[in-house]
Amino acid sequence: MSEDTEGAAAMEAGSRAKLAVVIMAAGKGTRLKSRRPKVLHEIGGKPLLSHVIAAASKVVAPGDIYAVVGHEAEKVRAAMASTGIRFVEQAEQRGTGHAIQSAGEAIKGYENILVLSGDVPLIRPEHLTALWKFHQTQNAAMTLVSAEPECATGYGRILHTAPDSVEVAAIVEQKMLTPEQLSLREVNIGLYAFRTATLLAHLGKLTTDNQHGELYLTDMAQVLHGSGERVVALKTDEPEQLLGANTVAELVALDATLRAATANRLMAAGVTIFRPETCVIDAEVEVAADTIIEPFVQLLGSTHIGTDCRIRSYTVIENCTLGDEVLVRQSCVLADSTIANGAQIGPFARLRPGCEVGEDVHIGNFVEAKKAKLHKGVKAGHLTYLGDAEVGEGTNIGAGVITCNYDGVRKHVTRIGRDVFVGSDSTLVAPVSVEDGSYIGAGSCITKDVPADALAVARSRQFTKEGWAAARRAQSKKSE
Ligand code: UD1
Ligand code: CA
Repeated sequence: MSEDTEGAAAMEAGSRAKLAVVIMAAGKGTRLKSRRPKVLHEIGGKPLLSHVIAAASKVVAPGDIYAVVGHEAEKVRAAMASTGIRFVEQAEQRGTGHAIQSAGEAIKGYENILVLSGDVPLIRPEHLTALWKFHQTQNAAMTLVSAEPECATGYGRILHTAPDSVEVAAIVEQKMLTPEQLSLREVNIGLYAFRTATLLAHLGKLTTDNQHGELYLTDMAQVLHGSGERVVALKTDEPEQLLGANTVAELVALDATLRAATANRLMAAGVTIFRPETCVIDAEVEVAADTIIEPFVQLLGSTHIGTDCRIRSYTVIENCTLGDEVLVRQSCVLADSTIANGAQIGPFARLRPGCEVGEDVHIGNFVEAKKAKLHKGVKAGHLTYLGDAEVGEGTNIGAGVITCNYDGVRKHVTRIGRDVFVGSDSTLVAPVSVEDGSYIGAGSCITKDVPADALAVARSRQFTKEGWAAARRAQSKKSE
């Protein structure tokens, strides 16, 4: 077996029983000044903890991932329930060391554990596999990941046993640094591997003898080194990928890093994004080559866009699937809908959830649709509301047409057939059906079904009084 396949086999075995991942996610996040638990704050459109779980899930099975939850534990559990991971309660948050003590029962069956922080969201599976490999080849009791970021303030610093050694004697937290240690630039990223039995045998030695009166997991470096165990650091050369989010400013900076990476991924795949720094694109968005995204566009959630589309400025698209050659003009808001090839939408159009827009459909300015199925070639050019409606192929909806779908209590459906002409400013009072090929005169209030190929006009007849206006003017002049 080559070294590589041996490594893979070890990972395999690890994913069954040898290796667990513990994610510390119980903290309140005091520095965010927020009522929401820190790990549920979002970057790239997803909670911090979701990013960490996604990376961990690539390395071990969800059943071997344990999130330590405490502050607002129920909310965190509920938000992560679909991931299939396990949870451990840390009722009182007495520090990162205490978080791992709380997980003692859960982890004792595993030979090794990786410990991750729920607030270090840009972590990738490669970071974890590199750490796991290094931990094994170094035969260490504790391996930590270190880095030299531009600004080390706030991070724990690494004290090596000798200047060029990978061995670590201690991690010193920011508040405990001596004046000489302030210049130390190598920081602790908060990502560790431990040999579980050795960790558990010494975990009780942690003390609260520090500025915060907490049990620091970082003190395990000194505890283990002091007991003759091997503690080593794996230094990463991409510190910006492993920064923590403790303040709103740090969250926003990580969000920008993640979004820049997403925009770069799409551009590498052939998508043109003008002024990408002005666009907000969530991590899971997919766009095919030759599509053009103009400045100040937001593509959110699980949005998929085909090839040769153009998304013009100030448009926000959330959880939508667009086919090929779709044009979305300026300032549209599209949510939870599908749009087929060649459709043109906007400017200033709104698709609320549940719309199915067919091929070559034209939706113009100030058109709102909700749960509307518009078949191929439908045109709704101006100032229209289509709610709970189905519109057949080739039908033309005039300016100002409204489906009256709500009777004050319930919603009702409007069905319009193919090749229908609905005259401007008509209201269609649902439930109502307008059959294929029919015509509706402008300004009609349609309350009854219209049969195929019929003309329906539902408005009062016009009457005209010749000379009436001139007579009125003459009258008012006389009385002056
Ligand atoms: C921690 C490290 C520091 C490192 C930094 C990297 C300690 C003592 N310090 O500091 O050396 O440079 O991360 O980002 O570990 N948590 C719990 N239970 C608790 C306390 C915290 O689960 O009782 C969780 C938090 O939710 C968070 C993680 O542990 O996800 C780290 O805690 P945090 O308070 O953010 O530690 P830092 O001060 O950033
Ligand atoms: Ca932190």
